[in-house]
Amino acid sequence: MNVISGADQNRVVPRTTDFRQLAAHHGLNATPSPAGVAPPKIVSLGGDPRVPRENDPDDRQILTLPHAANTASDVLAKIRADRFVVQDFRSLSDSIEWDLGRLFYQERGSHAFRTTEHVPFEINNDGTLSAHAAEVFFANLVASESSQALGTTIFVLEIGPGTGLFAKFFLDAFREMCVRHAKDFYERLCFVLADYSDSMLADIDKARILGPHRDRCRLVRADARDMARTFSAGGSASRLEMGPFDAIFLNYMLDSLPAAVLEFDDPVIKELRVRTCLARNFNARNGLGLTPEAIAQKASSDDPEVRRTLIDLYPYFTLDYDFLPVDPAGMPYADFAIGFGRRNGRHLLHSFGAIQCLQGCWAVLSGEGFILMNDYGQGAADETAEATLHQKFSGSTHIGLNFPLLAAFFQNAGDCRWIEPDKDPGGIFARLLGRSPSEAAIDTFRRCFDKTTYDRLNEPVARARQHQQCGQYEAALGAYQEALARQPRNWLLMGEVAKYLIFAARDYRAALQLAATAISLNSDRSADLWDTVGDAYLGLEMGEKALGSFQRALAIDETDVRGRLGLAHVFGQRGEYMEAMRLIAEAITLDKACQYREMLLRKQADIVLEIDHQNREEMRVMLTRNNRLGIMKDAG
Ligand SMILES: C[S@@+](CC[C@H](N)C(=O)[O-])C[C@H]1O[C@@H](n2cnc3c(N)ncnc32)[C@H](O)[C@@H]1O
Repeated sequence: MNVISGADQNRVVPRTTDFRQLAAHHGLNATPSPAGVAPPKIVSLGGDPRVPRENDPDDRQILTLPHAANTASDVLAKIRADRFVVQDFRSLSDSIEWDLGRLFYQERGSHAFRTTEHVPFEINNDGTLSAHAAEVFFANLVASESSQALGTTIFVLEIGPGTGLFAKFFLDAFREMCVRHAKDFYERLCFVLADYSDSMLADIDKARILGPHRDRCRLVRADARDMARTFSAGGSASRLEMGPFDAIFLNYMLDSLPAAVLEFDDPVIKELRVRTCLARNFNARNGLGLTPEAIAQKASSDDPEVRRTLIDLYPYFTLDYDFLPVDPAGMPYADFAIGFGRRNGRHLLHSFGAIQCLQGCWAVLSGEGFILMNDYGQGAADETAEATLHQKFSGSTHIGLNFPLLAAFFQNAGDCRWIEPDKDPGGIFARLLGRSPSEAAIDTFRRCFDKTTYDRLNEPVARARQHQQCGQYEAALGAYQEALARQPRNWLLMGEVAKYLIFAARDYRAALQLAATAISLNSDRSADLWDTVGDAYLGLEMGEKALGSFQRALAIDETDVRGRLGLAHVFGQRGEYMEAMRLIAEAITLDKACQYREMLLRKQADIVLEIDHQNREEMRVMLTRNNRLGIMKDAG
């Protein structure tokens, strides 16, 4: 069988080169022979695998080894084959791993973006993408207005809004533009946020992310592949009366939809299938007390409520891959995909879920409207499909997009304009499509989403970091100032600069103000920003405020390590050593990337010193008192 790969993503490997520690980790006795005792003389290969008896003089001389393997790779194949199979080979999008990823968003809502190992969201939610999208939209509306194509209500749709921050920043920027150019578009706007996760939508409301724009927004539960059935401009009883949409935004959304990797092994067509196994670091303790058999049984259940109980086991699932023959007739857009694939190499990433979603969007898009998508994936047809294997983000599985395939599909449709920037910035691809978006919108899109704009925005940040590394603090400050002038609403950048002000420039007041500005922009969603506020208060020797800030950070992200370190510091200062030590122990356990390990150990050592000091003081006081009592007794 041609199994490609199946890395255990959670395997904990001891970070040591000390043989004794390694041996201890594996439960082996690696005590070296005491000096003077001769090393074993006879090494018998493939012999009797008996356990040598400690006190038998003959056995002490014999070291038996197991049979040599036929090939070294057989050894690894065997241990991999020993893993428990939860679910046998099938399409990725039919697998339990994929399903748990879907249930993860439905169950956890915005929590998916708040934990230390969160789903990456920063790049689309720092305000820059929103400002650019608003510019393109505004340009298109001005052009549509002059061509009389604009309806009374202007409808915008964002599918898969996640935190809701993209929408908030979009509406901020759009309102500003309308005021500046004396246009009433903002007053006529209805912004629809559609997500299949009720909790995601509820969290946007609970955190008041949309702020003053809330009245212009509608939050709708809908599946991304069902847009045409969800919305109806004409008004059908079963559909929502919204649209047609003048703009539809899809940010890191299409990669949540199913796709297949095909192999053309002429005349046979194969699909990359996955087999779900339990990782080798799985045990009953981290498996919520479930046996492997019970997990497999739940995974095979048709009831989503039963499968949902496996969400916390997602990290312990690992996949094997194999290309297996497939009947293409059952696959959406099979003819198109096979024709496209055969022209472009042996492998094809077939983004059929993305096509289904875009087609649904197309059906509810206005004549002059546009769809703007931002996602990652395959930028050129000749890139290998294997490079786009799925990825695990926190508790969810995603797969990048085949942009050339999508372009070919929609360009084939005849009435579609598919627009790309001259040069992609790298990593993320922005694409605009519509029936007849205005030339002004297309020009604005090309300008805003081109690599040159991206580089211009980010160059001062890179320069500031470089200056910092060389210890050129004033120069770094100057570059950061330039960076913030270019990205005035970027709360992430503000957080970075605030940290710089604390740890390099030691200007705690300025840091506090910057972090507070960032928090006001992102509606209180970042634990890291609250930790920065806490650190600034520590610098200002305001322990109580620092305590409150770190507690806010932990309320946002219960896995936050930096917040625990800060709290340990505060409790240490207060002499509450037990609590400080408890927080450090928790932080060390949670710090999976060991980012704070050294600092935590240093803090622990400091607190141990303080505990020792306190104990000595208590002892001294006791001795002095006893001595005094003794003297008094003698005197009496
Ligand atoms: C990776 S997050 C992206 C969030 C946000 N757009 C961003 O850029 O940060 C994917 C979002 O799409 C939603 N989603 C995933 N699959 C969906 C589907 N089939 N229908 C509707 N929403 C979906 C998730 O609930 C989540 O809000």
